[in-house]
Amino acid sequence: MPVTDKYFMALAAVRKICCIGAGYVGGPTMAVIADRCPEIEVTVVDLNAARIAAWNSLDLAQLPIYEPGLDAVLQRARGRNLHFSTDVDQAIAAADMVFLSVNTPTKTRGVGAGQASDLRWIEACTRQVAAAAKGHTIVVEKSTLPVRTAETIQAILAAAQVGEDKSFAVLSNPEFLAEGTAINDLENPDRVLIGGNDAAALNALAEIYEHWVPTVKILRTNLWSSELSKLTANAFLAQRISSINSIAALCEATGADVKEVAKAIGSDSRIGNRFLQSGPGYGGSCFQKDILNLVYLCGYYGLAEVASYWQQVVQLNNWQQQRIARLVVQKLFNTVNGKRIAMLGFAFKANTNDTRESPAIRIAKELLEEGAQLAIHDPKVNPDQISKDLAQPPGLDMAADVHGGWSMAPSPLEACIGADAVIVVTEWQQYFHLDWQAIYAVMRKPAWLFDTRAIADGKAALAAGMQVWTVGEG
Ligand code: UDX
Ligand code: ADP
Repeated sequence: MPVTDKYFMALAAVRKICCIGAGYVGGPTMAVIADRCPEIEVTVVDLNAARIAAWNSLDLAQLPIYEPGLDAVLQRARGRNLHFSTDVDQAIAAADMVFLSVNTPTKTRGVGAGQASDLRWIEACTRQVAAAAKGHTIVVEKSTLPVRTAETIQAILAAAQVGEDKSFAVLSNPEFLAEGTAINDLENPDRVLIGGNDAAALNALAEIYEHWVPTVKILRTNLWSSELSKLTANAFLAQRISSINSIAALCEATGADVKEVAKAIGSDSRIGNRFLQSGPGYGGSCFQKDILNLVYLCGYYGLAEVASYWQQVVQLNNWQQQRIARLVVQKLFNTVNGKRIAMLGFAFKANTNDTRESPAIRIAKELLEEGAQLAIHDPKVNPDQISKDLAQPPGLDMAADVHGGWSMAPSPLEACIGADAVIVVTEWQQYFHLDWQAIYAVMRKPAWLFDTRAIADGKAALAAGMQVWTVGEG
């Protein structure tokens, strides 16, 4: 193709989008783009055939992810201009724009293990784009990536276009959606960030968002600022949670109440009142991974003090989770061996079925190690996922002496039958107003409530006869 034709295509409006990766980011993001841009054909592809089948399921309860409002968006767009497929090559070949939305977990082996991102999936799908693309293709980094990953993507794509009738432009367009509010975050973003130096490609992507996002909210930066902004935003948010959790421990020791402190400091407009809810520590696929990425990056560039500053945010988070598990054991007369403990919530936050890095995992593992028998309730998390997270299948054995067991309970009340304690781990709405009289009646006495989110009706639980511990309450 002559260079002028390629250039003309780069300027033309995007007609076909391919998104590689049908996960928590790719699925909802593409659903909203398709919904808001009916003239653009959007195909979401994934290697995982079961996941694609679930996205295509007519029964919307079978969707692979739970996200409020997603079903309504899908109903409008799916089959019209939104498609889910396993034919990755075909979707790439047809697309003017390809989003890379694959997983980038922390490396578990080799150089940077425990800190750096594992880029094997991003490299594999970039190579696939390089091979399958036709004509001019704008490649958009959507996954959270270490700074300068775009360089790697560019290098692979540049090698592929030598002597071929294809060309590429690379952009960074980090996703800021939070799970549980993804659809609202996508429909009403605080800002959309696009990083890159190819003006035509920047305009093409901005034009897509301009279908529903005011132009002033679409920020343009260079590639590296865009990549670094994503890591920094998550690091700042996580830092607020570690900060308030550190103060929660001090409140418990001194008789202050962290909710009152949060309200008092949050009223200062310079601090702001959001993200000040003390809890069992942050979870989710992003915070831990992104801070560790930042730590790795700082270490790589010789900024040891900066690295250790951010590392402390992660350490405080780990400490908070461990502190809660140990506190439960201590209050239950220093042993939970063979004791039934009800765990309310397993997702890392309410309104999602995602358990990645959920504080519930660490707390449950610590209690299992002590021989506890956990009865877990969660309205959305699948028991198969819990088996994977806890690395053991369900099975209660009240006589177990060596290691604890777990089972799924159909309701909070049933989880509490015969239990010595109930721990609220996720802030699901239904745990705000539990019937504490009924719960107390079925528990073994003394019966404890450990409220790691400070959301349960502690006064009602106390009145019913429960012993109550609430995070951050002195
Ligand atoms: C986060 C960022 O918010 C989002 O912008 C980015 O794109 C991905 O990472 P997410 O992890 O989905 O989103 O959820 P978020 O609402 O940020 O919560 C993360 C964790 O922090 C959860 O475990 C949550 O329970 C916890 N949290 C949040 C608190 O403990 N207290 C708070 O005040 C807020
Ligand atoms: P996120 O929360 O970032 O969306 P997920 O793990 O939920 O992460 O989703 C990432 C998806 O990307 C997974 O469904 C995985 O199967 C898919 N994936 C990873 N590598 C490839 C690839 N090379 N081609 C197609 N899909 C891929």
